[in-house]
Parts: sequence; C-alpha cells; structure tokens
Amino acid sequence: MIERIIGAAQIDDDEVEQEFEVKLRPHDFANYIGQDRLKQNLQLAIAAAKKRGESLDHVLLYGPPGLGKTTMASVIANEMGAQIRITSGPAIERAGDLASLLTNLQDGDILFIDEIHRLHRTVEEVLYSAMEDYKLDIMIGKGPSARSLRLDLPQFTLIGATTRAGALAAPLRDRFGHTHRLEFYTHDQMRQVIARAAGILDIKIDEAAALALAERSRQTPRIANRLLKRVRDYADVNGDGIIDTTISTKALELLEVDELGLDPADRMLLTAIIDSYNGGPVGVETLAALTAEERSTIEDFIEPYLMQIGMLERTPRGRKVTHKTYQHLGKQQPRGESQPGSL
Ligand code: ADE
Repeated sequence: MIERIIGAAQIDDDEVEQEFEVKLRPHDFANYIGQDRLKQNLQLAIAAAKKRGESLDHVLLYGPPGLGKTTMASVIANEMGAQIRITSGPAIERAGDLASLLTNLQDGDILFIDEIHRLHRTVEEVLYSAMEDYKLDIMIGKGPSARSLRLDLPQFTLIGATTRAGALAAPLRDRFGHTHRLEFYTHDQMRQVIARAAGILDIKIDEAAALALAERSRQTPRIANRLLKRVRDYADVNGDGIIDTTISTKALELLEVDELGLDPADRMLLTAIIDSYNGGPVGVETLAALTAEERSTIEDFIEPYLMQIGMLERTPRGRKVTHKTYQHLGKQQPRGESQPGSL
C-alpha cells in the first residue's frame, strides 16, 4: 500500500515524524485544543483524585486515529504529576511482559496501552485483577506442582486507547471508570492547531492559508501537522518560505488532496462503490478486494472521516455512498435513488 500523506496512522518507523509529533504535543489542558467535554470530565476527575490523594480511575479513550489519544494520555499524566509508561497491545507478547511492566510501576504511575484491542487474550486476563484489585496472579511451576501466587501491585492508572471500542472484551471494557470517545475537530479548532504548530516550528503561514489547510486536514490534528510540513517544503522550494493561499493551493494539488481533504485512496473507494455497485450497498470485504486495501485500513483510516462528512453510510447490507458523494465526484446519480428534494 502506498504511504498516504493524509493517512492518520502514526508512522512508527519514521523517527523524524515521531520527534515532530512529540515536539508539537501540548503538555497540559490549557494548551490542548478541542475535545472540550472530555477535558472537562477529566479535569474534574483529576481534581477529585488529587483532593482524595488517590490515583485516577482507569481511562479508556477511543476514536479514529490521529485525534490525540496518546497526547491526551500524556496530558493526564502531566496534570496528575505522575510518570507515564507508554506501550501498545501488540508489543506485550506474553503475560510475563505485562507482569514485568506492572511490577515496575510506582503508586500513581500511569500505564498507557495503545491499540489495547490488540492485546493477546492471555495478557488481557492478567489485566483484570490488576485493574480491579491491584493484584497480580502468577503461576509458578508447571503440572501438578504448579501453584498460584498473588502479588500486590502499586495503585496505578491504566489508560487504554483504541480505534475500536467494540473490539474490546466486555470484562476489560467494564473495568474502566472513564470511557470517552475523541471527536473529530471543527475547522476552527483545526485552524488553531495549525497556527499553534506553525508558531512552534517557526513556519510563516497567513490566515487564509491556515484555514485552507484546516479545511483539508480531515478534522484530524496529526494530518494537519503532516500537511503543514509538506506545504512548508513546497514554500521553501518554490517560494520564499512563506505559506499563502497560492502556495498552499498548489502544494495541496500536488499532493492530490482535494477541498474536502480527500486523497486518491478515498476517491478510489467512493468511485468503486458508484461505478461497480451503483452506489451500494456493498460489503467491506468486496471493497477491500476492489481497492487492494486491507479491510482494517478501510475501517479504521478511510471510513470514519467519510462517514463524518456524510459521504459514506454503513448499513446492515454494506456501505453506501450518498447524494453528496455523487455531487462531490461530479457523477450522475441513478434515477430513483433518494435525493434531497426528489419526490
Ligand atoms: N497538536 C496535536 N493535537 C493537538 C491538540 N489537540 N491541541 C493542541 N495541539 C495539538
């Protein structure tokens, strides 16, 4: 699969990219733009936990990639004055790996597990008693002489992040005291995210260009920051380094990102539904085969934004495009399909 400039996936093997993300990460609620309801809820929970001198209840953050789940976890740690240990579901291969992580924590520490829906079942089961009673049950030995041992754990806080809350086993989901969905950002919040990033990176961008980028960033800060970097490259090479609308328009054209933030992968998916399935419904597996994308890429990275802007619908019989999709792609909608205002 080609690397998508506007893919919201974190690019794990790109150290420059990661460094860049860390540099732009806000450290406290005051500098974290958007997610107001989540911030209010967490601020209250943190103030209450601090007042009682307790650790914060476990927190589950879910929602599309790139909206700031990891960032929020580090803000929570900072606001609690706690240390944070960051890992991910697939990185914890055995129950013993988790046991070692947990026993090395201290009271009040935060353990952040990204992609928590990808934890192995055997690892997940160790988490249950750890989360509920701060106890670690381990088996010593094998066969008839095996016995189990209960160890006390520090009063830690688990913050889990997932793109799919539905993929979490109910016993795990139920052990989180706070479960919150991260929302897509408004265009104005995106504009603020871009202005903030430009300030930190010393990038000169005018208001109109910042708004144009904001509108094409799929309402996702990670994408905005990445686009900003690409557009800066364009301005440095083809201009005097200042980003105005002429520069941003040309750069975005070159990147094949349209006015709604759609890229060739999105347009290919939508066009496939229209051209091959008359607008749908069509099953996601069929779409994966048709577009040569993984099903999980379609579900986690492509669809959430298309649904957010009303260009795609999920129905029990599969995916369907909408009137807006036909309009945006300049395609004729078949007669008899429901159109706003049609009889
Ligand atoms: N950078 C990335 N996400 C951000 C956010 N929500 N607020 C401020 N800066 C950000």
